[in-house]
Amino acid sequence: MLADKRILLIIGGGIAAYKALELIRLLRGAGAAVSPVLTRAGAQFVTPLSVAALAGSPLHQDLFDLTAEAEMGHIQLSRAADLVVVTPCTADLMAKMAGGHADDLATTLLMATDKRVLIAPAMNVRMWEHPATQRNLARLRADGVLVTGPTHGDMACGEHGPGRMAEPADIFAAIGAALHDGPLKGRRILVTSGPTHEPIDPVRYIANRSSGAQGTALAAALRDLGAKVTFVTGPATVPPPPGVQVLHVETARQMLEAVEGALPADAAVFAAAVADWRVAQEATQKMKKDASGLPVLAFAENPDILATVSRHRLRPGLVVGFAAETENVIAHAQAKRLRKGCDWMVANDVSPATGIMGGTENAVHLITETGTENWPRLPKTEVAARLAARIAAHLTGQPE
Ligand code: CTP
Repeated sequence: MLADKRILLIIGGGIAAYKALELIRLLRGAGAAVSPVLTRAGAQFVTPLSVAALAGSPLHQDLFDLTAEAEMGHIQLSRAADLVVVTPCTADLMAKMAGGHADDLATTLLMATDKRVLIAPAMNVRMWEHPATQRNLARLRADGVLVTGPTHGDMACGEHGPGRMAEPADIFAAIGAALHDGPLKGRRILVTSGPTHEPIDPVRYIANRSSGAQGTALAAALRDLGAKVTFVTGPATVPPPPGVQVLHVETARQMLEAVEGALPADAAVFAAAVADWRVAQEATQKMKKDASGLPVLAFAENPDILATVSRHRLRPGLVVGFAAETENVIAHAQAKRLRKGCDWMVANDVSPATGIMGGTENAVHLITETGTENWPRLPKTEVAARLAARIAAHLTGQPE
């Protein structure tokens, strides 16, 4: 898949550095050549010998390594690659990159390269959430740096939250996408996400607890496999992923319009938690408390976007719905798949006790024409990666 591609792999100083070894194995297995660079801090976590042995190529560590300068030089080293990958990318490396520092081999290569750079950040939750890191992240994205992860989860430091480095398989997929070499290259995929807001009057609305996390993770996973993703999102709390076409909507009717406008597509995944009803008569002025008593809201049914697209003349070849249930999850979702006319239904239990709606994990059942698979409880990013891989296998006819 990555035959003849050359990856300059910079290994930073973090506990996640060991995952870089697995990434090297995946890259070489796919036919890529890996030139490893180990920072001084990185060498505290993995040994130069293991990196060089796995890469099957000389390891670069020092800017003033005269042999390397004579043979190749750091400028050339940075140019010979098709992609520069930084894994793990520490808070310090991000800060140096954002500030344009070049005080060691890794940062000098990052400044000198004319190729795209992909970083896989990894750090403690507080460091990740620190305004300085978030500022640096925004700066790097604006500079065109590709970012994969971090994900939520338990970290080596004992804390829980965002900051955990993406898994090697996910970084590998992001590398494929960055090189436009993923299995979904050339495919258009539509993803809906987030809640909808249905107005009552100019200041009030009806909403639901969807954060948009699952749809966002899915759009990112499909992008990482090379798909051209159109992401139609309601007012979610999770920001949309970079590298996809984002269409912001508020109501179910606006979502339908945006979705129909985005057809044709090779596949469509409906992860949005669309309001089933809207207030029939939205008040044009703010409703006031007055002597006439309590207001009574009359409802009208919203269009069912999934059902509409499933029977559309431009129906995508693969239509995937999500079923949010609080009881009899599988039976309800099987019936919903048939009723709505979609191909696959991803069913999940959104009872408050599961913590799934608005949370970081999901436990799903994949219901297809041929049966039901029960997936273990996983981070939403992992559910997304698995589902994206399934979609890719289905569209390309290649096994996962
Ligand atoms: N959906 C949609 N448009 C709607 C309602 C739902 O596209 N107006 C989609 C969702 O994005 C999801 C699937 O339909 O992919 C199922 O959503 P869900 O809320 O579980 O189903 P409902 O249609 O609300 O069915 P019920 O109220 O019976 O649970």
